[in-house]
Order: sequence, then C-alpha cells, then structure tokens
Amino acid sequence: LNEQIIKKIKELKIQKNAVILAHNYQIAEVQDIADITGDSLGLSKQAAETSADVIVFCGVKFMAETAKILSPAKTVLLPEPNAGCPMADMITAQQLREFKAHHPGAIVVCYVNTTAEVKAESDYCCTSSNAVEVVRRLPEDKNIIFVPDKNLGQHVAQQTGRDLILWPGYCSTHTFITAEDVDAARNEHPDAELIAHPECTPEVRAKVDQLLSTGGMLKYAKKSHSKEFVVVTEKGIIHTLRKENPDKNFYAVSPRAICPNMKKINLEKILWALQRDQYRIELPTEIMKKAKTALDRMLEVLP
Ligand code: 13P
Ligand code: SF4
Repeated sequence: LNEQIIKKIKELKIQKNAVILAHNYQIAEVQDIADITGDSLGLSKQAAETSADVIVFCGVKFMAETAKILSPAKTVLLPEPNAGCPMADMITAQQLREFKAHHPGAIVVCYVNTTAEVKAESDYCCTSSNAVEVVRRLPEDKNIIFVPDKNLGQHVAQQTGRDLILWPGYCSTHTFITAEDVDAARNEHPDAELIAHPECTPEVRAKVDQLLSTGGMLKYAKKSHSKEFVVVTEKGIIHTLRKENPDKNFYAVSPRAICPNMKKINLEKILWALQRDQYRIELPTEIMKKAKTALDRMLEVLP
C-alpha cells in the first residue's frame, strides 16, 4: 500500500510542480519521501529559494507559515492543520505588545517558533542555528527582548554575555528530557558524545557535550571522530543520523522525547494534500509584510 501511495505522490508532485519539505523530527517515511529535509533555518532558506509552485510543508504550522511569508506567491500546504507547536502558542501578539510597552526601546528577537502575528511584532527572527549570531550583532547599548523560549534564550545569553529579557515559554517535548535521563545515558554509553538541542532545560544543557540545532547535529555527527552518540532531542532525527552515518551508533536519551505534533503527518496525508490542495496557509498581507522584515534580517545571518 505504501508503494502505491509513494508512486501517486511522485506523479502528483511532477504534475503540480510541487516540492516536499520535511523537518528532521518527521516520521521516517515522510523524511524519506521529502525532496529536502532540514532544520528550521535550512527549510526557511529552501522555501525562499525554490522555483516550485507548491510547497508541501511537513512540519508544524509556524514552519509552513514561515514558508508562506517568504514565498507569498506560492501555494503552501500543511498536510495536517492541527500540527501546531505548543511553545509557539505560549505568546500572543497582544502579550508581546504589552511586554514591549514594559521595556520601551528594547530590540525584539523572536525564535522562529512563533506565530506570524508575533513575528510581525518583532525586529529580528532567529532559529536555534543562528540565534547566538543574530544576538551578537545587535548594538551593545540596547536592551534585548527574546521570546518565547526561555531555554534557548538562556543559552544565547550565556554564549553572548548579553543580558536578555526573557519570556517564560518552553518546549514541552524537550522538558520531558531530565538530568537523570542524561546521567543514565552517560553511564550506559560511556564512550558516546552527548549532542543536545538548546531547547533543553539548564540542568540538561549543563551535562552534555555539544549544543546544536538539528541541522547542526547532522553536520556534527558526520565530521566528529566519535563512533557513538546519545541524541538529546526529539527522537525523529535519529532516522537521518543513522542513514547518513551507517558506521556510527545513535541512542535516544529518553523514549519520551517525542513531539506529538511532528508525528501527525504521514504519507496518506501528503497524498491528500496534493490531491485536494489542503490545507492552504493564508495570512493577512500586512502581517506577512511585517513578519518578512524580521525573517529577512535573520536570513542575512549565517549559522
Ligand atoms: P531546529 O530543527 O531548527 O533545530 O528546531 C527544532 C525544533 O524544535 C523545531 O520545532
Ligand atoms: Fe514545538 Fe518542541 Fe515540537 Fe519543536 S519539538 S514543534 S518546539 S513542541
């Protein structure tokens, strides 16, 4: 059955001049059928550059919205309309406006894990792979508001020495990973390198060897001399890590490190998306224009 679905997806993709983008946390079959897999920054760049007419975005809603903002003339489809990001929903545009009013003159940096409306209220956007670089370039004499991820924000503050004004948001999936999980994995795999995402809690971040975006992990695993890695982020990325490094071993830090929203898309939903043009991302023009300014500033900064 899967073979038939894959065949139909491939035919429709050509017919519609569509491209399939998938985040590194998607299920294995979805990553395998995608034309491009990547982290949030990599996928944003691809969305901005592709010559396809249709982008099928296999990820969560803020990612598909980002693709639409960067390519407003294209049809952007999210195969599962309820694939959201709880962290992105932890701050609304109205809450950000009120926060800004309490800190007049501050520059606002938003993580890409935000709604389009929140991006429209921000000066700069960033992802986990360029957040440190984005903040490093900001003028020394300005206060900086960083929303919504307090964990990534703390990491950026540590790396840059800047005193960031943080919003108390967090990723529920990464907070499932505990310091005890990390200790147990270290004991079980004493020769492994521990690679973690900066969305992890400070207790976890303090115990690992490398803090990287998902794209950064894929690059790092290839170039590192280590033969074993404990993966301290959402488990989905292990599929691609294994595929790209057949001679190395990868272990999940915890069986609970699963983002339920990232698992909502499957091959059937991709096929329906292409057959029925669903679910189209549409955003108000004014919001897209403002959000694009913050995203364009981010895309100028390399990871
Ligand atoms: P990156 O893939 O950009 O590291 O982001 C991780 C994430 O949580 C996406 O929701
Ligand atoms: Fe959001 Fe966390 Fe899931 Fe990423 S892993 S989509 S930040 S809930």
